[in-house]
Amino acid sequence: MTQPWWRTSVVYQVYPRSFADSNGDGIGDLPGLIGRLDHIQALGADVLWVSPFYPSPQADNGYDISDYQGVDPLFGSLDDVDRLIAALHERGMKLVIDVVVNHTSDAHPWFVESRSSRTSAKRDWYWWRPPRPGRVAGEPGAEPTSWTSFFGGPTWEPDEATGEYYLHLFDRRQPDLNWENPDVRAAVHAMLRWWLDRGVDGFRFDVINLVSKQFNADGTGWFFNGPRIHEFVTELHEQVWGTRQLLTVGECPGVTVEEARRFTDPARGEFDMVFQFEHMGVDHGMGGRYDVRPVDWVRMKEVMVRWQEGLADVGWNSLYWCNHDQPRPASRYGAGHTAYREASAKALATVLHLHRGTPYVYQGEELGMVNHPFTSVEQLDDVESRNWSRAALARGMDPAAVLAAVNARSRDHARTPMLWDDSAHAGFTTGTPWLPVHPAYRQINAAAQVGDPDSVFAHYQRLIRLRRELPVVVDGRFELLLPKHPCVYAFTRTLSGGPGQADDELLVVANLSGEPVEVELPGGWEEARVVISSGDPDPSGMPPAHLGVLGPWQAWVRRRHTDG
Ligand code: NOJ
Repeated sequence: MTQPWWRTSVVYQVYPRSFADSNGDGIGDLPGLIGRLDHIQALGADVLWVSPFYPSPQADNGYDISDYQGVDPLFGSLDDVDRLIAALHERGMKLVIDVVVNHTSDAHPWFVESRSSRTSAKRDWYWWRPPRPGRVAGEPGAEPTSWTSFFGGPTWEPDEATGEYYLHLFDRRQPDLNWENPDVRAAVHAMLRWWLDRGVDGFRFDVINLVSKQFNADGTGWFFNGPRIHEFVTELHEQVWGTRQLLTVGECPGVTVEEARRFTDPARGEFDMVFQFEHMGVDHGMGGRYDVRPVDWVRMKEVMVRWQEGLADVGWNSLYWCNHDQPRPASRYGAGHTAYREASAKALATVLHLHRGTPYVYQGEELGMVNHPFTSVEQLDDVESRNWSRAALARGMDPAAVLAAVNARSRDHARTPMLWDDSAHAGFTTGTPWLPVHPAYRQINAAAQVGDPDSVFAHYQRLIRLRRELPVVVDGRFELLLPKHPCVYAFTRTLSGGPGQADDELLVVANLSGEPVEVELPGGWEEARVVISSGDPDPSGMPPAHLGVLGPWQAWVRRRHTDG
């Protein structure tokens, strides 16, 4: 049986606002992106996922859509999307678009109509609820449930004109669509078929496991993986892509391995893969993402292994350290802006790309970009970090601690402009960039790395090439070694050759620390060929005398064949 194409793919994510600006307005756009496709192709990624470019008031940088079938003038036009699709297809690459259908913008005509009166034909397209019995809309505590929004504060916004509340799991300018209404679902399906007819090759579904919600009469309930979620997703699959082979990935906060098996079991006809968040929570304290804790690699490995094993026989994993909502992995898990920045970025990439699943590379990750040194919360743009810091300051949190937390965790770290070269604004724009350019852009940029065999970029190229060359990277069984080691991430991948055939095996070992370490590795690998290595203290690339001796941030992959 042939593999679905996305199992051997590597996806590159572009946040169009921050990738490349073609018209000097300081905001990236689609023509800018088209002009930079060589970079993505040279890296070796074969799928491009573009964050939203649709018309939007930009309350959440485009994740608040006011027209699903257009392009915001900030980013270009529908012609530019057509040109992007054609340019990708000419290169043998594919386009995945971002589908935000848990909610719309409050400026979407559907919502404008819905809020116009209690009897509007689209009233039931959103979640309108009266205040709690005996209470008046707008009074503290009158909200229909006590749910807290992902961006802080209650999930309910009172509407003075009609005396009811509408639900918004994110910002109040992002009202939630009511998927219980079949007309809403039919409108979503029709819109997605329109995009397929335009030539897109896949969809990334924003927070899709929130579309089925459970409300109880007493104001309790939940909104993760609600009672009809699988029914809605199966219907979406049937109605939109049927037997066509796309790449579909559902962003699913709070999803468990068991739920993910249901979502990604091909026999059920839902998604190809999901984005889970468990590994993103390893360095969060009880207070959530701004409660910053050092990463505990023992715990991280435990989480990653559970997902590897849980989706080994059924379903498929997506693999990521970063996206537009996360800080930069080289700062978060790596050595940050120090002498070991590049070695740490390479080691982290080696570990991730050798897991089983489809890897996602977020723009700039392939350069080892690092977090931005914000000096004031006023410099932040992101609605989530702004709301959080405002609330934290109001609670009396020390301003220095607030700044430290956003400097570790703000979504803006991923959103500062892509670093192209050492010219003004790192070649991102000729105008004034909408977010500051990282001050180290003269040192960290694409022009300096592309073509340099020692660069982080070249390391990503090698990892991607290895995936293309060796079926064991795609299909091999995953087995963790040294589960309790605090900083060495080691595992094997094995592809059985069948009776009389040799097994293909990889041993992946990375020291995720700035100190040398010595570990006990299984025997029989001394003679195995090194297929990828980085951070080796010996520049000649010769393996050290003893396999288990690892330099700071050193990582390597060895390959051997063993008789089956
Ligand atoms: C998840 C997206 O990745 C994030 O950027 C956005 O703010 C929320 N969903 C709401 O759409």
